[in-house]
Amino acid sequence: MLGTAESPLRVAIVGAGPSGFYAAGHLLKNKHHPDLVAEVDLFDKLPTPYGLVRAGVAPDHPKIKSVTRVYEKSAADPRFRFYGGVELGRDISREELLDRYHAVIYTVGAQTDRRLWIDGEDLLGSFPATTFVAWYNGHPDASDLQFDLSAKRAVVIGNGNVAIDVARMLLLTREELAATDTAEHAIDGIAGGGVEEVVICGRRGPVQSAFTNPEILELGEMEGVDVVVDPADLELDEHSLAALDQAGEATARKNVDILRGYAERPLTGAPKRIVLRFFVSPVAIEGDGKVERVVLERNELVAEGGQLKAKPTGERETLDAGLVFRAVGYKGVELEGVPFEERSGLIRNEAGRVTDDSGNHLAGEYTAGWIKRGPSGVIGTNKKCAHDTVDELLHDLTTSHLAQPSDPDPASVDALLRERVPGLVDWDGWHAIDAVETAAGEPQGRPRVKLVTYDALHEAAAGAGTTA
Ligand SMILES: Cc1cc2nc3c(=O)[nH]c(=O)nc-3n(C[C@H](O)[C@H](O)[C@H](O)COP(=O)(O)OP(=O)(O)OC[C@H]3O[C@@H](n4cnc5c(N)ncnc54)[C@H](O)[C@@H]3O)c2cc1C
Ligand SMILES: NC(=O)c1ccc[n+]([C@@H]2O[C@H](COP(=O)([O-])OP(=O)(O)OC[C@H]3O[C@@H](n4cnc5c(N)ncnc54)[C@H](OP(=O)(O)O)[C@@H]3O)[C@@H](O)[C@H]2O)c1
Repeated sequence: MLGTAESPLRVAIVGAGPSGFYAAGHLLKNKHHPDLVAEVDLFDKLPTPYGLVRAGVAPDHPKIKSVTRVYEKSAADPRFRFYGGVELGRDISREELLDRYHAVIYTVGAQTDRRLWIDGEDLLGSFPATTFVAWYNGHPDASDLQFDLSAKRAVVIGNGNVAIDVARMLLLTREELAATDTAEHAIDGIAGGGVEEVVICGRRGPVQSAFTNPEILELGEMEGVDVVVDPADLELDEHSLAALDQAGEATARKNVDILRGYAERPLTGAPKRIVLRFFVSPVAIEGDGKVERVVLERNELVAEGGQLKAKPTGERETLDAGLVFRAVGYKGVELEGVPFEERSGLIRNEAGRVTDDSGNHLAGEYTAGWIKRGPSGVIGTNKKCAHDTVDELLHDLTTSHLAQPSDPDPASVDALLRERVPGLVDWDGWHAIDAVETAAGEPQGRPRVKLVTYDALHEAAAGAGTTA
């Protein structure tokens, strides 16, 4: 019977971010299925695990990254294998996985950015937050990028926590950055830059912002930074006031309180400022070959289809700025051969079961995390999401609705990958990378100094003798 010591359930998980690890953990140790015997191979296109915990979470938030200890525990299971440097679609195909595993779970996250679709969006100096975040976090695909941060004023579009991360990172001092695992090139780029003011623009109001309380509170605690909020933006319309009264809106209520505090607080004359603007949308980014100005249009809120939407009023202003970062959300990318909904940027699925155009479940294919439900939610949100998907998978195990691999021998996929993928990194290889990075950080009192190129990562992994 499948799922026993004689015939283990073999699962490939593609993407070693939080959702991939939570899925692995639920398969390897499941209190509802104590007798289940599953073998998990976790693939990532990078030589390193942990997805956005390594390449997204802001470097000045090191505590959040300690969540990886939970993932380490799953990885220590003898029935777990990590294959870093293996990209689905480049190094191995969907068909090859389905030929070797009873189930495949796609947990590839959201790999690109949403666009604004306005004039000037691609001018030099206008960037998606996705690439800036990857750059300061030392993602090897972003380490060659150049960010000229010499402008005095930067505009960040979006009212989510990524917008706040970007604003905060732009204003940290060299000393503050030097205590973190910010990539070396980004410490030099940010500290050597000239940004003194970051204007964060939300298209709707304070009540509708997607900030969470600790993040917005932290802005007011930054050394040498004044936070500016126009009290007029806090004169709430009737719909926003009604929304605030609802149960479940505690975050919004607290956000408004914090913002009122900022609006009332006298400016200290600090050298740097974060300005929180509301009810404005960028309609054009202008400049002669590079960003020089942003044209903003004032919005009003209108109730439409049970939501409060931003409606342009026609009133415009021009804001001088040399940098624009759009932090309006991440977006999923299609995996070759895997059903995908272009509009939502999600793998087509029903409760985690991958479905074809007609809604039929494709046997053995599942998804979890941002690529299943969209690019929102904190790390912990992916735990329930991944567990739900694995529960569906285990239900399908009982009804025998899984893939029927012709070559399920664990040694066979290992041999295939070792032959095919130069620089394949296994879990010992990752530990070798980790050891090099943390050793380099230790004398400087930093959590780690990240290796930011594929060559450096592979060289460090080879120290464990585990790269192909
Ligand atoms: C800038 C930023 C900061 C954040 N900060 C916080 C925070 O402070 N606290 C918090 O709780 N949440 C934070 N979040 C949210 C959190 O990071 C996400 O909820 C979580 O990472 C999503 O997990 P995931 O596994 O779905 O995707 P990801 O973490 O993106 O992992 C996906 C993995 O799949 C791999 N992959 C992609 N394509 C392929 C392929 N074809 N083949 C093989 N592998 C592939 C990627 O390399 C990656 O490792 C932040 C998000 C962002 C964007
Ligand atoms: N410290 C942390 O815990 C932390 C840090 C970073 C990220 N995260 C989490 O990661 C997830 C993703 O964060 P995120 O900031 O990328 O996404 P988000 O929370 O969804 O915020 C996106 C913001 O962009 C705005 N937006 C979208 N399209 C726009 C447009 N065309 N013009 C102007 N504004 C537009 C949205 O406004 P509307 O609401 O009007 O659509 C919203 O304010 C979130 O769940 C977040 O909490 C957590």
